[in-house]
Amino acid sequence: MKFATVVFGCQMNIHDSERIDGLLTSEGWEKTENLKSADVVILLTCCVRESAEERFWGYLQSLKPLKRKGTIFAVGGCLAQEIGTGIFNRAPHVDLVFGTHQYVNILDLIWRSMKGPVCSLEMDGLNLASAPLRRREGFRAWVPIIHGCNNFCSYCIVPYTRGKEISRPREEIFREIDRLAQEGVKEIVLLGQNVNSYGKDIYGHREFPRLLGEIAERLPGVWVRFLTSHPRDFDEALVEVVSSHDNICRYIHLPVQAGSDRILLKMNRGYNRDFYLRLVELIRERSPRCSISTDIIVGFPGEKERDFQDTVDLVERCAFDSAFTYIYNRREGTKAAELGGEVPREKIMERFHKLTSLTDKLTFESNRRERGSVQVVLVEGKSKKDQENMLKGRTSRNKVVNFLGEEKLIGEFVRVKIEEAGKFSLLGRIVPDKESSRQHSE
Ligand code: SAM
Ligand code: SF4
Ligand code: F3S
Repeated sequence: MKFATVVFGCQMNIHDSERIDGLLTSEGWEKTENLKSADVVILLTCCVRESAEERFWGYLQSLKPLKRKGTIFAVGGCLAQEIGTGIFNRAPHVDLVFGTHQYVNILDLIWRSMKGPVCSLEMDGLNLASAPLRRREGFRAWVPIIHGCNNFCSYCIVPYTRGKEISRPREEIFREIDRLAQEGVKEIVLLGQNVNSYGKDIYGHREFPRLLGEIAERLPGVWVRFLTSHPRDFDEALVEVVSSHDNICRYIHLPVQAGSDRILLKMNRGYNRDFYLRLVELIRERSPRCSISTDIIVGFPGEKERDFQDTVDLVERCAFDSAFTYIYNRREGTKAAELGGEVPREKIMERFHKLTSLTDKLTFESNRRERGSVQVVLVEGKSKKDQENMLKGRTSRNKVVNFLGEEKLIGEFVRVKIEEAGKFSLLGRIVPDKESSRQHSE
């Protein structure tokens, strides 16, 4: 049997698709990139914003002509979890709908759906201990350490689609990363909606800093990253662990969402602007080489001009190395969907453009500070830049670098001298290797 996977949304879905690939190929199925030749087409969906949903629906409709007798269309991920059989109503060519905890049963579900439509949405926990994994990138592995989210930020659909927090036992994580290290991965990304609450549900207390330190020590020479940190549970111990391990990437994604106390409260984020500013100060002080990125939402219900100014002020003070800015999108079923005070569209767009021009300027300034330095870069693939032999990679500080080099370097660490800074990436030149190619930079 041949199958194809198409992924929308975030790293959670990317990871889930790698498990699906692993589960099916270990049963002798063949993965294909050519959807026309696939017997089973599996789509993993996202519903964090309406735009993500719309992209999926458009794509699903475009697949309709591929439906032959016997072709199975399977839809999983967050939108599937959210609307279940609603997928069949809008797209009768779909045979299987499966929720975010159900992909581990994918094989059985596909067989069942050959006899008639199947919808499986139980959220009965995820046992990944024996679920094989087939990575998209040989050199990088996404390792979930905690599933779900208990935070219920008032605007966010994720806690409803991914369920409550479930940490994976330490031993299971260690077994997985040891195997990955043996397979030769160069970078491990520890994943969770809020990695900082790792351990609360199974050990009774938060354990992320300890887990991170132990993983870094177990895997000398492998880069370790983590995503995402909720500011409320972020503490000094974590900064200490990052700064005391050379192979933990100098990059922290710390979504702030808003700079106004009034809005943060309405968002149910559990911290105020002073708390956040102190965290950034702590990171800059203890681990000055760390780059910090953030997520910001513009146009949350009731956002006044002075709230927006507070956000602008916070962004300037934090001088983020990069930022993802989003326009608030009402999600049915969330607390914020019931709030009044919709901000007029023109106002939102005006604020959004102001904010993105500020964050772009800060990113450019941050990139310019890299000029002249020599950075260790993990080579990810061919560059999109229209030049032959151009490769791209990423530094420990999560900066994308383009440079000339041979394709055989993909998946390797190289040292690159940064010569030019662009708005969104850097340009450099490979310099000869020294004893260790795993230092962060010099
Ligand atoms: N768990 C992460 C955290 O706590 O920051 C992020 C998860 S979410 C998939 C990624 C980002 O999407 C959030 O940080 C937030 O900025 C944005 N987001 C979530 N819900 C949104 C909504 N309803 N409208 C606009 N942006 C939203
Ligand atoms: Fe959504 Fe908040 Fe959970 Fe992040 S922490 S996934 S923004 S509810
Ligand atoms: Fe990710 Fe989208 Fe779900 S951002 S967790 S795939 S709603």
